[in-house]
Amino acid sequence: MTRIFDLSGRTALVTGAASGIGVGIAEVLAEAGATVVIADLDKAKAQAQVEALTAAGHRAGAVQINVADEASVVAGYAEVVATYGAPWILVNNAGLQDREMLLDGTVAFWDRTLDVNTRGPFLMSREAARAMVAQGDGGRIVHIASAALIGSLVKGHAAYASAKAALVGLAHASALDLIEHGITVNTVLPGGVATPGAIGAQGPAPDGPARRRPPLGMCEPRDIGAAVLFFASPGAARVTNQTLAVDGGWSVT
Ligand SMILES: NC(=O)c1ccc[n+]([C@@H]2O[C@H](COP(=O)([O-])OP(=O)(O)OC[C@H]3O[C@@H](n4cnc5c(N)ncnc54)[C@H](O)[C@@H]3O)[C@@H](O)[C@H]2O)c1
Repeated sequence: MTRIFDLSGRTALVTGAASGIGVGIAEVLAEAGATVVIADLDKAKAQAQVEALTAAGHRAGAVQINVADEASVVAGYAEVVATYGAPWILVNNAGLQDREMLLDGTVAFWDRTLDVNTRGPFLMSREAARAMVAQGDGGRIVHIASAALIGSLVKGHAAYASAKAALVGLAHASALDLIEHGITVNTVLPGGVATPGAIGAQGPAPDGPARRRPPLGMCEPRDIGAAVLFFASPGAARVTNQTLAVDGGWSVT
C-alpha cells in the first residue's frame, strides 16, 4: 500500500528555499523522502541549505534561477530536468514582501512585485507542467500565497495582495488545464512568519490587522511545510484547486 505522506523516489523543486519559509518546506519534503532541489536567486545561501539538508542525511541540490526572468526559468528548469529528471513536485514559494502605500504607488514597484510573485509562478508552473506531462506520471504544484487574502493585511500591501490574489487565480485556472494530466494545483496561505524576508521588508510601518497575535502562536516555516506536504503527498491525489490557510488561528480573532 502506498504510504500517504511518503515522497521516496520523488523530486521536489522549491523556489526561494534558500531562506525563511522555503527552508522549512524543503526540510519537511526532504524528511518525507523527496530529493529537494532549491531554485533561488541567491546561489551561496541555496548551497548552504543544500549542505544542511545533505548533512541531515537527505538528498538535495541547488540551481540558480531568477523566477521573474523567462530565459533564466527555461534554462534553469532544463538543467534541473537533465540532472534529476522532471520534478514531480513544484512549490512556488519565492516572493517579495515590500510595501508601498497606494497613495504613493508607482508602476515600478507594482511591476517588480508582480514580476516575482505572479509572473514567476506562471513561468515556473509552465515549465514544470511541460516536463511533468512529458514524463506522464502526473505531479503536484503548490503555490505559496498569503493570509493577506483573508484579511491579514498591513498597510502598503496593494501590490503584494494583488499579486497573491492573481496567484490564486492562476491556481484555479491551471488546476483545470492540468487535471487531465493528473497534475494537481493547490495553494497555501501562510499567516505571519518571522523570516528574513518579512523582517527586512521595506516600506511604511506594517500597521494593520495582521499585527493581531494569532491565538495558536506565530507560524514557523515548518508549519507551512506541513501543509505543503499534504498537498504534495500521494494521499492528496484527489485534492486540487484548494486553498489552505495556516495562520495560527488568526482568522478566528
Ligand atoms: N514571512 C511571512 O510572514 C509570509 C506570510 C505570508 C506569505 N509569505 C510568502 O512566503 C514566501 C516566502 O517568504 P519568506 O518570508 O520566507 O521570504 P524570504 O525573503 O525570507 O525568502 C524568499 C527567498 O526567495 C528568494 N527570491 C526572491 N526573489 C527571487 C527571484 N526573483 N527568483 C528566485 N528566488 C527569489 C530569495 O533569495 C529568498 O531566498 C513568499 O512568497 C512570501 O510572500 C510570507
